[in-house]
Amino acid sequence: MTAGDPPIPHPRYHLAPPWGWMNDPNGLVWHQGLYHFFYQHNPYDIVWGPMHWGHAVSSDLLSWQHRPVALAPDDLGTIFSGCAVIDVTGSAGLGAGAIVLVFTHHDGTRQCQSLAFSNDAGETWQKYAGNPVLEAPAGLRDFRDPKVYRWDDEWIMVVAAGHELWFYRSSDLRAWHRTSTFTADIGVAGAVWETPDVFSLPIEGEAGNSWILSIGVSAGAPSGGTGMAYVAGQFDGSRFHAGQPPTWADSGPDYYAAQSWYGDPQGRVVWVGWVDNEAIPATRGSISWRGQASIPRSLSLVRRGDRLVLRQTVISEIADLRSDSISLTFGDAPETSVRLDGPAIELSMEVEGSEGVIVLTLSRSVRSLARLTFDAGKCLWTLDRTVGSQELVAAGSWQGTGSPATNVRILLDVASIEVFIDGGIGVFTASLPAVQSDFTQLTVSPRGRLSGTAEAYSLRTSIAPS
Ligand code: FRU
Repeated sequence: MTAGDPPIPHPRYHLAPPWGWMNDPNGLVWHQGLYHFFYQHNPYDIVWGPMHWGHAVSSDLLSWQHRPVALAPDDLGTIFSGCAVIDVTGSAGLGAGAIVLVFTHHDGTRQCQSLAFSNDAGETWQKYAGNPVLEAPAGLRDFRDPKVYRWDDEWIMVVAAGHELWFYRSSDLRAWHRTSTFTADIGVAGAVWETPDVFSLPIEGEAGNSWILSIGVSAGAPSGGTGMAYVAGQFDGSRFHAGQPPTWADSGPDYYAAQSWYGDPQGRVVWVGWVDNEAIPATRGSISWRGQASIPRSLSLVRRGDRLVLRQTVISEIADLRSDSISLTFGDAPETSVRLDGPAIELSMEVEGSEGVIVLTLSRSVRSLARLTFDAGKCLWTLDRTVGSQELVAAGSWQGTGSPATNVRILLDVASIEVFIDGGIGVFTASLPAVQSDFTQLTVSPRGRLSGTAEAYSLRTSIAPS
Protein backbone atom coordinates (compact mmCIF):
# COMPACT_ATOMS: atom_id res chain seq x y z
CA MET A 1 0.00 0.00 0.00
CA THR A 2 1.36 3.43 -0.89
CA ALA A 3 0.33 6.96 0.09
CA GLY A 4 -2.84 7.90 -1.74
CA ASP A 5 -4.23 4.37 -1.90
CA PRO A 6 -7.74 4.08 -0.44
CA PRO A 7 -7.82 2.52 3.05
CA ILE A 8 -8.36 -1.22 3.03
CA PRO A 9 -11.88 -1.87 4.31
CA HIS A 10 -12.87 -4.24 7.08
CA PRO A 11 -15.32 -7.07 6.38
CA ARG A 12 -18.94 -5.88 6.47
CA TYR A 13 -20.52 -8.73 8.41
CA HIS A 14 -17.68 -11.08 9.39
CA LEU A 15 -15.84 -10.37 12.64
CA ALA A 16 -12.26 -9.13 12.22
CA PRO A 17 -10.04 -7.36 14.75
CA PRO A 18 -10.36 -3.55 14.82
CA TRP A 19 -6.58 -3.52 14.31
CA GLY A 20 -3.78 -6.05 14.71
CA TRP A 21 -3.94 -9.78 14.20
CA MET A 22 -6.66 -12.40 14.82
CA ASN A 23 -6.45 -16.17 14.72
CA ASP A 24 -8.58 -18.80 16.52
CA PRO A 25 -12.07 -18.16 17.89
CA ASN A 26 -11.91 -18.64 21.70
CA GLY A 27 -14.32 -18.72 24.65
CA LEU A 28 -17.55 -18.76 22.62
CA VAL A 29 -20.41 -18.49 25.09
CA TRP A 30 -23.94 -17.10 25.28
CA HIS A 31 -24.81 -15.29 28.50
CA GLN A 32 -27.78 -13.09 29.42
CA GLY A 33 -28.76 -12.19 25.87
CA LEU A 34 -25.27 -11.76 24.43
CA TYR A 35 -23.03 -14.00 22.39
CA HIS A 36 -19.42 -13.51 23.48
CA PHE A 37 -16.65 -14.03 20.94
CA PHE A 38 -13.05 -14.00 22.16
CA TYR A 39 -10.20 -14.59 19.76
CA GLN A 40 -6.46 -15.09 19.59
CA HIS A 41 -5.18 -11.56 19.17
CA ASN A 42 -1.92 -9.70 18.76
CA PRO A 43 -2.92 -6.07 19.39
CA TYR A 44 0.50 -4.72 18.36
CA ASP A 45 1.01 -6.00 14.83
CA ILE A 46 -0.66 -7.72 11.87
CA VAL A 47 1.36 -10.89 12.34
CA TRP A 48 1.06 -13.63 14.98
CA GLY A 49 2.87 -12.59 18.17
CA PRO A 50 2.27 -12.29 21.92
CA MET A 51 -1.21 -13.73 22.18
CA HIS A 52 -4.01 -11.94 24.05
CA TRP A 53 -7.76 -12.66 24.00
CA GLY A 54 -9.61 -10.02 21.97
CA HIS A 55 -13.31 -9.74 22.77
CA ALA A 56 -16.52 -8.83 20.95
CA VAL A 57 -20.22 -9.26 21.77
CA SER A 58 -23.39 -9.56 19.70
CA SER A 59 -27.07 -10.27 20.25
CA ASP A 60 -27.49 -11.94 16.84
CA LEU A 61 -24.07 -13.44 15.91
CA LEU A 62 -23.71 -10.86 13.13
CA SER A 63 -23.72 -7.35 14.65
CA TRP A 64 -20.48 -7.40 16.61
CA GLN A 65 -19.35 -4.71 19.03
CA HIS A 66 -15.71 -4.66 20.01
CA ARG A 67 -14.87 -4.75 23.72
CA PRO A 68 -11.52 -4.16 25.45
CA VAL A 69 -8.96 -6.96 25.32
CA ALA A 70 -10.07 -9.52 27.94
CA LEU A 71 -6.87 -11.43 28.72
CA ALA A 72 -3.26 -10.23 28.40
CA PRO A 73 0.00 -12.17 28.93
CA ASP A 74 1.27 -12.50 32.53
CA ASP A 75 4.02 -14.29 34.49
CA LEU A 76 2.79 -17.69 33.31
CA GLY A 77 3.06 -16.70 29.66
CA THR A 78 0.96 -15.61 26.70
CA ILE A 79 -2.69 -16.59 26.35
CA PHE A 80 -3.35 -19.38 23.86
CA SER A 81 -6.70 -20.83 22.81
CA GLY A 82 -9.47 -22.09 25.06
CA CYS A 83 -13.17 -22.01 25.84
CA ALA A 84 -15.81 -20.59 28.19
CA VAL A 85 -18.54 -22.11 30.37
CA ILE A 86 -21.21 -20.74 32.68
CA ASP A 87 -20.63 -22.14 36.17
CA VAL A 88 -24.27 -21.95 37.27
CA THR A 89 -23.73 -23.55 40.69
CA GLY A 90 -20.40 -21.86 41.41
CA SER A 91 -18.63 -25.24 41.47
CA ALA A 92 -15.22 -23.60 40.97
CA GLY A 93 -15.64 -21.26 43.95
CA LEU A 94 -15.47 -18.26 41.62
CA GLY A 95 -19.10 -17.23 42.06
CA ALA A 96 -22.45 -18.81 41.18
CA GLY A 97 -23.26 -17.95 37.56
CA ALA A 98 -19.70 -16.81 36.80
CA ILE A 99 -18.50 -16.93 33.20
CA VAL A 100 -15.34 -19.03 33.46
CA LEU A 101 -12.69 -18.99 30.72
CA VAL A 102 -10.45 -22.05 30.45
CA PHE A 103 -7.34 -21.35 28.39
CA THR A 104 -3.73 -22.33 27.77
CA HIS A 105 -0.83 -20.39 29.25
CA HIS A 106 2.23 -20.67 27.01
CA ASP A 107 5.65 -19.62 28.33
CA GLY A 108 7.65 -20.53 25.22
CA THR A 109 8.54 -24.05 26.35
CA ARG A 110 5.70 -25.39 28.50
CA GLN A 111 1.93 -25.17 28.08
CA CYS A 112 -0.58 -25.46 30.93
CA GLN A 113 -4.30 -24.85 31.45
CA SER A 114 -5.60 -21.92 33.49
CA LEU A 115 -8.84 -20.17 34.47
CA ALA A 116 -10.18 -16.61 34.37
CA PHE A 117 -13.65 -15.45 35.33
CA SER A 118 -16.17 -12.64 35.29
CA ASN A 119 -18.94 -11.95 37.78
CA ASP A 120 -20.26 -8.89 35.96
CA ALA A 121 -21.56 -10.49 32.76
CA GLY A 122 -18.24 -10.20 30.94
CA GLU A 123 -17.48 -6.51 31.60
CA THR A 124 -14.30 -7.28 33.56
CA TRP A 125 -12.09 -10.37 33.80
CA GLN A 126 -9.83 -11.71 36.54
CA LYS A 127 -7.36 -14.54 36.33
CA TYR A 128 -7.79 -17.26 38.97
CA ALA A 129 -5.12 -16.89 41.68
CA GLY A 130 -4.38 -20.64 41.75
CA ASN A 131 -3.34 -20.89 38.05
CA PRO A 132 -2.40 -23.17 36.43
CA VAL A 133 -5.04 -25.80 37.13
CA LEU A 134 -3.54 -28.46 34.84
CA GLU A 135 0.11 -28.83 33.88
CA ALA A 136 1.65 -30.85 31.06
CA PRO A 137 3.48 -34.02 31.98
CA ALA A 138 7.26 -33.51 31.73
CA GLY A 139 8.51 -33.76 28.16
CA LEU A 140 5.17 -32.99 26.48
CA ARG A 141 5.58 -29.82 24.44
CA ASP A 142 2.17 -29.48 22.78
CA PHE A 143 -0.59 -29.52 25.40
CA ARG A 144 -3.19 -26.90 24.66
CA ASP A 145 -6.60 -25.59 23.62
CA PRO A 146 -8.89 -26.95 26.36
CA LYS A 147 -12.57 -27.37 25.51
CA VAL A 148 -14.84 -27.92 28.51
CA TYR A 149 -18.45 -29.12 28.56
CA ARG A 150 -20.97 -30.35 31.11
CA TRP A 151 -21.65 -34.06 31.65
CA ASP A 152 -24.03 -35.18 34.42
CA ASP A 153 -23.03 -32.88 37.28
CA GLU A 154 -19.38 -32.76 36.29
CA TRP A 155 -17.11 -31.08 33.78
CA ILE A 156 -15.29 -32.78 30.92
CA MET A 157 -12.19 -31.28 29.34
CA VAL A 158 -10.70 -32.37 26.04
CA VAL A 159 -7.22 -31.00 25.37
CA ALA A 160 -4.85 -31.46 22.42
CA ALA A 161 -1.64 -33.32 23.29
CA GLY A 162 0.60 -33.73 20.23
CA HIS A 163 -1.43 -35.85 17.80
CA GLU A 164 -3.70 -37.16 20.55
CA LEU A 165 -6.65 -35.75 22.46
CA TRP A 166 -6.72 -36.29 26.21
CA PHE A 167 -10.00 -36.36 28.13
CA TYR A 168 -10.23 -35.20 31.77
CA ARG A 169 -13.03 -34.97 34.31
CA SER A 170 -13.56 -32.56 37.21
CA SER A 171 -16.26 -31.54 39.68
CA ASP A 172 -14.90 -28.02 40.21
CA LEU A 173 -12.97 -26.92 37.07
CA ARG A 174 -9.80 -26.84 39.22
CA ALA A 175 -8.83 -30.47 40.00
CA TRP A 176 -8.76 -32.59 36.84
CA HIS A 177 -8.23 -36.35 36.49
CA ARG A 178 -7.47 -37.94 33.18
CA THR A 179 -9.99 -40.50 31.91
CA SER A 180 -8.87 -41.45 28.36
CA THR A 181 -6.82 -40.81 25.24
CA PHE A 182 -8.25 -40.50 21.74
CA THR A 183 -6.32 -40.85 18.53
CA ALA A 184 -7.23 -41.68 14.93
CA ASP A 185 -5.58 -41.93 11.54
CA ILE A 186 -6.37 -38.75 9.63
CA GLY A 187 -4.03 -39.78 6.85
CA VAL A 188 -1.50 -37.04 7.62
CA ALA A 189 1.87 -37.94 9.09
CA GLY A 190 3.58 -35.48 11.40
CA ALA A 191 0.66 -33.09 11.94
CA VAL A 192 -0.07 -31.70 15.39
CA TRP A 193 -3.69 -31.68 16.60
CA GLU A 194 -5.14 -28.43 17.95
CA THR A 195 -8.40 -26.77 19.06
CA PRO A 196 -10.61 -29.85 19.66
CA ASP A 197 -14.35 -29.60 20.27
CA VAL A 198 -16.98 -32.16 21.27
CA PHE A 199 -20.75 -31.85 20.84
CA SER A 200 -23.86 -33.92 20.22
CA LEU A 201 -25.83 -33.35 17.00
CA PRO A 202 -29.27 -34.44 15.79
CA ILE A 203 -29.33 -36.87 12.85
CA GLU A 204 -31.82 -35.58 10.28
CA GLY A 205 -34.88 -37.83 9.90
CA GLU A 206 -33.93 -40.00 12.88
CA ALA A 207 -34.76 -39.87 16.55
CA GLY A 208 -31.21 -40.22 17.83
CA ASN A 209 -28.18 -38.00 18.11
CA SER A 210 -24.53 -38.69 17.48
CA TRP A 211 -21.48 -37.19 19.14
CA ILE A 212 -18.95 -35.34 17.03
CA LEU A 213 -15.33 -34.73 17.87
CA SER A 214 -13.74 -31.97 15.78
CA ILE A 215 -10.00 -31.49 15.44
CA GLY A 216 -7.78 -28.77 13.99
CA VAL A 217 -5.07 -30.57 12.02
CA SER A 218 -1.92 -28.48 11.57
CA ALA A 219 -0.90 -29.79 8.12
CA GLY A 220 -2.02 -31.94 5.18
CA ALA A 221 -5.59 -30.64 4.72
CA PRO A 222 -7.23 -31.09 1.26
CA SER A 223 -6.11 -27.67 -0.02
CA GLY A 224 -2.79 -27.84 1.84
CA GLY A 225 -1.78 -26.61 5.29
CA THR A 226 -4.21 -26.43 8.19
CA GLY A 227 -7.75 -27.85 8.15
CA MET A 228 -10.66 -29.07 10.26
CA ALA A 229 -11.43 -32.76 10.55
CA TYR A 230 -14.30 -34.45 12.40
CA VAL A 231 -15.17 -37.89 13.69
CA ALA A 232 -18.70 -39.14 14.43
CA GLY A 233 -19.02 -41.53 17.35
CA GLN A 234 -20.19 -41.85 20.94
CA PHE A 235 -19.03 -40.28 24.18
CA ASP A 236 -19.69 -42.28 27.37
CA GLY A 237 -18.63 -39.78 30.03
CA SER A 238 -14.99 -40.73 30.01
CA ARG A 239 -14.06 -41.86 26.51
CA PHE A 240 -14.89 -40.96 22.89
CA HIS A 241 -15.53 -44.02 20.69
CA ALA A 242 -15.12 -43.34 16.96
CA GLY A 243 -17.95 -44.76 14.84
CA GLN A 244 -16.31 -44.02 11.49
CA PRO A 245 -13.00 -42.73 10.11
CA PRO A 246 -12.23 -38.99 10.28
CA THR A 247 -13.34 -36.71 7.42
CA TRP A 248 -12.53 -33.09 6.49
CA ALA A 249 -15.20 -30.51 7.33
CA ASP A 250 -14.33 -27.97 4.62
CA SER A 251 -12.91 -28.42 1.11
CA GLY A 252 -11.51 -24.89 0.90
CA PRO A 253 -8.13 -23.66 2.10
CA ASP A 254 -9.17 -21.35 4.95
CA TYR A 255 -11.32 -22.88 7.66
CA TYR A 256 -9.46 -23.61 10.87
CA ALA A 257 -9.66 -23.81 14.66
CA ALA A 258 -13.49 -23.94 14.58
CA GLN A 259 -15.32 -23.90 17.92
CA SER A 260 -18.98 -24.11 18.93
CA TRP A 261 -20.90 -21.74 21.22
CA TYR A 262 -21.61 -22.90 24.75
CA GLY A 263 -25.29 -22.41 25.67
CA ASP A 264 -26.95 -21.29 22.44
CA PRO A 265 -30.43 -20.14 23.62
CA GLN A 266 -32.11 -21.84 20.63
CA GLY A 267 -30.43 -25.15 21.48
CA ARG A 268 -28.46 -25.16 18.22
CA VAL A 269 -24.85 -26.19 17.85
CA VAL A 270 -23.34 -23.17 16.06
CA TRP A 271 -19.69 -23.13 15.19
CA VAL A 272 -17.36 -20.57 13.66
CA GLY A 273 -13.85 -20.89 12.25
CA TRP A 274 -10.81 -18.73 11.55
CA VAL A 275 -10.70 -17.88 7.82
CA ASP A 276 -7.02 -18.39 7.16
CA ASN A 277 -4.38 -21.03 6.72
CA GLU A 278 -1.08 -21.21 8.54
CA ALA A 279 0.55 -22.36 5.30
CA ILE A 280 -0.17 -19.06 3.50
CA PRO A 281 2.35 -16.30 4.13
CA ALA A 282 1.17 -12.95 5.44
CA THR A 283 1.54 -11.11 2.14
CA ARG A 284 -2.06 -10.03 1.71
CA GLY A 285 -4.68 -8.28 3.82
CA SER A 286 -4.18 -4.78 5.01
CA ILE A 287 -1.79 -2.66 6.96
CA SER A 288 -4.15 -2.29 9.93
CA TRP A 289 -5.77 -5.70 10.44
CA ARG A 290 -5.34 -9.32 9.50
CA GLY A 291 -7.50 -12.38 10.16
CA GLN A 292 -11.27 -12.82 10.24
CA ALA A 293 -13.96 -15.20 11.42
CA SER A 294 -16.21 -17.29 9.18
CA ILE A 295 -19.97 -16.86 9.17
CA PRO A 296 -21.41 -18.76 12.16
CA ARG A 297 -22.92 -22.05 10.94
CA SER A 298 -25.49 -24.24 12.62
CA LEU A 299 -24.71 -27.96 12.46
CA SER A 300 -26.64 -31.18 11.92
CA LEU A 301 -25.90 -34.66 10.60
CA VAL A 302 -27.17 -36.46 7.53
CA ARG A 303 -26.89 -40.20 6.97
CA ARG A 304 -25.26 -41.03 3.62
CA GLY A 305 -24.87 -44.81 3.20
CA ASP A 306 -22.97 -46.05 6.24
CA ARG A 307 -21.60 -42.57 7.06
CA LEU A 308 -22.82 -39.61 9.07
CA VAL A 309 -21.98 -36.42 7.23
CA LEU A 310 -21.90 -32.90 8.67
CA ARG A 311 -24.31 -30.32 7.30
CA GLN A 312 -23.29 -26.69 7.88
CA THR A 313 -26.14 -24.20 7.52
CA VAL A 314 -25.59 -20.45 7.52
CA ILE A 315 -27.39 -19.12 10.62
CA SER A 316 -30.92 -17.97 9.76
CA GLU A 317 -30.18 -14.52 11.28
CA ILE A 318 -28.45 -13.66 7.98
CA ALA A 319 -31.89 -12.95 6.45
CA ASP A 320 -32.02 -9.72 8.49
CA LEU A 321 -29.05 -8.35 6.55
CA ARG A 322 -30.64 -8.74 3.11
CA SER A 323 -31.45 -5.54 1.25
CA ASP A 324 -31.78 -5.26 -2.55
CA SER A 325 -32.34 -8.50 -4.40
CA ILE A 326 -32.15 -9.58 -8.02
CA SER A 327 -33.58 -12.80 -9.51
CA LEU A 328 -32.20 -14.42 -12.61
CA THR A 329 -32.79 -17.47 -14.74
CA PHE A 330 -30.11 -18.98 -16.90
CA GLY A 331 -29.86 -21.67 -19.55
CA ASP A 332 -30.91 -19.94 -22.80
CA ALA A 333 -28.15 -17.36 -23.12
CA PRO A 334 -24.44 -18.22 -23.11
CA GLU A 335 -23.90 -15.77 -20.29
CA THR A 336 -26.04 -13.89 -17.74
CA SER A 337 -24.60 -11.10 -15.60
CA VAL A 338 -25.97 -9.10 -12.70
CA ARG A 339 -24.47 -6.31 -10.69
CA LEU A 340 -25.24 -5.68 -7.02
CA ASP A 341 -24.35 -2.80 -4.75
CA GLY A 342 -21.47 -3.27 -2.38
CA PRO A 343 -18.95 -6.01 -1.61
CA ALA A 344 -21.26 -8.04 0.69
CA ILE A 345 -23.43 -10.42 -1.31
CA GLU A 346 -25.48 -13.56 -0.79
CA LEU A 347 -26.36 -15.74 -3.77
CA SER A 348 -28.58 -18.84 -3.84
CA MET A 349 -28.62 -20.84 -7.03
CA GLU A 350 -30.55 -23.96 -8.11
CA VAL A 351 -29.06 -25.94 -11.00
CA GLU A 352 -31.01 -28.50 -13.10
CA GLY A 353 -29.59 -31.01 -15.54
CA SER A 354 -27.14 -33.87 -15.59
CA GLU A 355 -24.85 -32.87 -18.46
CA GLY A 356 -22.75 -29.78 -18.97
CA VAL A 357 -20.70 -27.32 -17.03
CA ILE A 358 -21.68 -24.12 -15.30
CA VAL A 359 -19.20 -21.42 -14.44
CA LEU A 360 -19.97 -18.66 -11.96
CA THR A 361 -17.53 -15.74 -11.91
CA LEU A 362 -17.52 -13.23 -9.09
CA SER A 363 -15.89 -9.88 -9.81
CA ARG A 364 -15.48 -6.67 -7.91
CA SER A 365 -14.90 -3.41 -9.78
CA VAL A 366 -12.61 -4.48 -12.61
CA ARG A 367 -11.13 -7.43 -10.79
CA SER A 368 -12.20 -11.09 -10.89
CA LEU A 369 -12.22 -12.60 -7.41
CA ALA A 370 -13.11 -16.22 -7.73
CA ARG A 371 -14.62 -18.73 -10.12
CA LEU A 372 -16.88 -21.60 -9.09
CA THR A 373 -17.34 -24.39 -11.63
CA PHE A 374 -19.86 -27.23 -11.52
CA ASP A 375 -19.28 -30.16 -13.87
CA ALA A 376 -22.64 -31.94 -13.83
CA GLY A 377 -21.39 -35.10 -15.58
CA LYS A 378 -18.78 -35.62 -12.87
CA CYS A 379 -20.83 -33.98 -10.05
CA LEU A 380 -17.69 -32.03 -9.30
CA TRP A 381 -17.53 -28.53 -7.85
CA THR A 382 -14.29 -26.56 -8.06
CA LEU A 383 -13.46 -23.19 -6.54
CA ASP A 384 -10.61 -21.24 -8.09
CA ARG A 385 -9.41 -17.96 -6.60
CA THR A 386 -6.17 -17.71 -8.57
CA VAL A 387 -8.25 -15.64 -11.05
CA GLY A 388 -8.12 -12.89 -8.40
CA SER A 389 -4.63 -13.31 -7.04
CA GLN A 390 -1.75 -15.48 -8.12
CA GLU A 391 -0.42 -15.35 -4.56
CA LEU A 392 -3.26 -17.48 -3.25
CA VAL A 393 -3.38 -21.23 -3.58
CA ALA A 394 -6.19 -22.39 -5.85
CA ALA A 395 -8.96 -23.39 -3.43
CA GLY A 396 -10.22 -26.92 -3.83
CA SER A 397 -12.87 -29.24 -5.16
CA TRP A 398 -15.79 -31.23 -3.78
CA GLN A 399 -17.47 -34.29 -5.21
CA GLY A 400 -21.27 -34.22 -4.92
CA THR A 401 -23.74 -37.05 -5.43
CA GLY A 402 -25.22 -37.95 -8.81
CA SER A 403 -28.55 -36.15 -8.45
CA PRO A 404 -29.88 -34.15 -11.46
CA ALA A 405 -30.57 -31.08 -9.31
CA THR A 406 -28.19 -29.31 -7.01
CA ASN A 407 -27.99 -26.04 -5.17
CA VAL A 408 -25.34 -23.69 -3.98
CA ARG A 409 -25.35 -20.76 -1.61
CA ILE A 410 -22.50 -18.27 -1.63
CA LEU A 411 -21.60 -15.63 0.92
CA LEU A 412 -19.17 -12.97 -0.18
CA ASP A 413 -17.63 -10.28 1.99
CA VAL A 414 -14.78 -7.81 1.58
CA ALA A 415 -12.12 -10.47 2.15
CA SER A 416 -13.79 -13.90 2.03
CA ILE A 417 -15.96 -16.31 0.09
CA GLU A 418 -17.94 -19.17 1.61
CA VAL A 419 -19.69 -21.72 -0.60
CA PHE A 420 -22.35 -24.14 0.70
CA ILE A 421 -23.29 -26.90 -1.76
CA ASP A 422 -26.27 -29.27 -1.57
CA GLY A 423 -27.65 -27.56 1.52
CA GLY A 424 -24.27 -27.23 3.24
CA ILE A 425 -22.97 -30.78 2.86
CA GLY A 426 -20.09 -29.55 0.69
CA VAL A 427 -18.40 -26.37 1.94
CA PHE A 428 -15.54 -24.18 0.69
CA THR A 429 -14.15 -21.35 2.77
CA ALA A 430 -11.50 -19.09 1.26
CA SER A 431 -10.04 -15.71 2.06
CA LEU A 432 -9.80 -13.17 -0.78
CA PRO A 433 -7.70 -10.07 -1.29
CA ALA A 434 -9.50 -7.17 0.41
CA VAL A 435 -10.21 -4.48 -2.21
CA GLN A 436 -12.42 -1.41 -2.14
CA SER A 437 -15.43 -1.60 -4.43
CA ASP A 438 -18.93 -0.19 -4.80
CA PHE A 439 -20.37 -3.19 -6.56
CA THR A 440 -20.05 -6.90 -7.16
CA GLN A 441 -20.72 -8.56 -10.48
CA LEU A 442 -21.96 -12.13 -10.83
CA THR A 443 -21.70 -13.85 -14.20
CA VAL A 444 -23.25 -17.26 -14.85
CA SER A 445 -22.06 -19.13 -17.96
CA PRO A 446 -23.87 -22.44 -18.53
CA ARG A 447 -22.58 -24.87 -21.16
CA GLY A 448 -24.42 -28.01 -22.23
CA ARG A 449 -27.89 -28.81 -20.97
CA LEU A 450 -27.80 -26.99 -17.65
CA SER A 451 -30.32 -24.41 -16.54
CA GLY A 452 -31.53 -22.88 -13.34
CA THR A 453 -32.50 -19.92 -11.25
CA ALA A 454 -30.69 -17.70 -8.81
CA GLU A 455 -31.56 -15.07 -6.23
CA ALA A 456 -28.87 -12.59 -5.21
CA TYR A 457 -28.97 -10.08 -2.35
CA SER A 458 -26.81 -7.18 -1.26
CA LEU A 459 -26.15 -7.61 2.46
CA ARG A 460 -26.18 -4.69 4.86
CA THR A 461 -23.15 -3.89 6.98
CA SER A 462 -23.69 -5.28 10.47
CA ILE A 463 -20.39 -4.27 12.09
CA ALA A 464 -19.82 -0.61 12.78
CA PRO A 465 -16.46 0.58 11.44
CA SER A 466 -14.14 1.08 14.43
C1 FRU B 1 -4.19 -22.87 16.36
C2 FRU B 1 -3.20 -22.49 17.46
C3 FRU B 1 -3.59 -23.11 18.79
C4 FRU B 1 -2.93 -22.20 19.77
C5 FRU B 1 -3.10 -20.86 19.11
C6 FRU B 1 -1.97 -19.90 19.37
O1 FRU B 1 -4.23 -21.93 15.32
O2 FRU B 1 -1.89 -22.85 17.09
O3 FRU B 1 -3.19 -24.45 18.92
O4 FRU B 1 -3.54 -22.25 21.03
O5 FRU B 1 -3.23 -21.10 17.73
O6 FRU B 1 -2.24 -18.65 18.81
